[in-house]
Amino acid sequence: MLNSVIIKKKIKNFNKEIFVSGDKSISIRWVLFASLANGNSKAENLLISEDVKAAIKIIRKLGIKVIINSKFCKIYGKGIDGYKYKNNLVLNAENSGTLGRLILGFLINTTKPIKLVGDKSLSSRDFKRISDPLGKFGGIFKLRNKKNLPLMLYGSKNLKPISYLENKGSAQCKSAVMFAGMRVNGTTFIKAKKSRNHTELMCKYLKLPVKVENKKNYDLIKVKKLKEIKPFNYKIPSDISSSAFFIILTVLSKNSKLLIKDVNINPSRIGAISILKKMGANIIFQNQQNYKGEKLANIKIEGGKKLKAINCPINLNSGAIDEFLVIFLVAAKAKGISYFKGLAELNQKESPRLKWGAKILSMMGVKNIVTNSSIKIYGNPKLEIKKKIIIKNYLKDHRVFMTSVIAGLSFGGEWNICDKDSIKTSFPNFLKIVDKLKN
Ligand code: S3P
Repeated sequence: MLNSVIIKKKIKNFNKEIFVSGDKSISIRWVLFASLANGNSKAENLLISEDVKAAIKIIRKLGIKVIINSKFCKIYGKGIDGYKYKNNLVLNAENSGTLGRLILGFLINTTKPIKLVGDKSLSSRDFKRISDPLGKFGGIFKLRNKKNLPLMLYGSKNLKPISYLENKGSAQCKSAVMFAGMRVNGTTFIKAKKSRNHTELMCKYLKLPVKVENKKNYDLIKVKKLKEIKPFNYKIPSDISSSAFFIILTVLSKNSKLLIKDVNINPSRIGAISILKKMGANIIFQNQQNYKGEKLANIKIEGGKKLKAINCPINLNSGAIDEFLVIFLVAAKAKGISYFKGLAELNQKESPRLKWGAKILSMMGVKNIVTNSSIKIYGNPKLEIKKKIIIKNYLKDHRVFMTSVIAGLSFGGEWNICDKDSIKTSFPNFLKIVDKLKN
């Protein structure tokens, strides 16, 4: 089948060092903050994927000059009021929920109406979770079906701060409200369930008017109006969510070893590592460093250890939210029945991922019981797949694609995985790294 990847053989054991591309969440945030900076900012190791390119196209449409090549990206910010654009502007967030949601925060104080569109997957996702809080600032939103893209934003200069309770654990909702709060006179108060905190760390590094108080189960965030963003250079660390596919490939592969260099190990992103360690995996962080508030390390993995089932604590969910599909493969090989709960948000991703997780496991012959928010997986340490599996019509969700590749390489069978272009959104050189580990 055109544009599909065929996997017919399990991977042989490997002992390699790899470098994974830049973090997607940090790359998009850097582009957005740099677009409002008072001068030129430069990034190295920016993730050059379709989601990040969509962010660059959007800021270009807002009148910001960008130069991008394989070594660096330079953004010529014109200050916090520097966006200039024509009437009837249409912005396309393509496949990226992070981009589509965050940019609305920064645009809340614009005066000419803006239309926001996305691809088929993004157009099926919930934007009411953003338009509801941003509407309270005083912006007016008109959404298709009151919930979806395309939407029209009628921004305003006449905005008031809000108090907002973020109770889904969504960093996109939290960040969009923070961005909007930075456009408004007065103090915006946010009480947010724990989620990735790259926006907060970047605000701290940039000395923006944001104060964060960390409580045990939530964070209190106070945001005031932005006066200036100084231009800032940034070397984007490698993405832990992209790394997770290779961490897990190694965990599932006997006698294999892997070293992944300079990965972002922000504590709000390493839920998968905690889960895998609890299941018996051998993973260590080496050379830990701080970079502009973010933590980095080299990650060393030794594969083939005995794996045991987990009753996964829900406090690890938000830090592993993008990794569950591939974590389910570890549960498939672990001894015992694993249980993952509190995962309704997984069905809000690029595809309904909890459903897809269950579907892939069932196709692999792994017994599982799935609900709208939980899954029980009956593990088998001797799992071997012998049949043909076709993965298609999955809304081109990059993580469904990559999880299927890892499943084929780990458990055998004959896999035909369609739409390999799906990886272009987050991890364009994923298959090149697979080839490196094969040879
Ligand atoms: C992201 C937040 C998460 C995550 C997504 C990236 C971000 O989404 O799944 O891949 O960069 O803020 P939610 O905010 O919907 O949980």
